Amino acid sequence: MSDALVDAALAVRENAHAPFSKFKVGAAVQDASGRIFTGCNVENATYGLTVCAERVAIFKAVSEGARKFTRVVVVADTDTLTPPCGACRQILWEFCGDVELVLANLAGKSETLQLGALFPRAFDASFL
Ligand code: THU
Repeated sequence: MSDALVDAALAVRENAHAPFSKFKVGAAVQDASGRIFTGCNVENATYGLTVCAERVAIFKAVSEGARKFTRVVVVADTDTLTPPCGACRQILWEFCGDVELVLANLAGKSETLQLGALFPRAFDASFL
């Protein structure tokens, strides 16, 4: 079954700027009004300034005024589906809460889970 959000993540992955790791990632997020925002990883020669696909997608969405998110997709070319890194889990939690998260690869394998399953007992604004 086709999934527009997965397709968007697969397409944007092609834009990944990953000359150092060669590891291309695509992400797509959907907001409550159905808008789709995409992001790819953008690496930097300093390595540490690299930004992951998930954060690019979220920051693009937030900067366009999106605030409520319903679904997140992450795609990479790995047999074992690639999950968001720790930093991205924190950012996703901050903006999306316990959102539906789809991990997918180029071979059509996918898994759907809740972000809370990957990021239990998160620190967030509720503690401040
Ligand atoms: N990367 C992402 O963009 N998202 C992830 O979920 C995992 C890692 C990127 C960062 C870096 O450009 C490359 O993948 C290798 O770590």
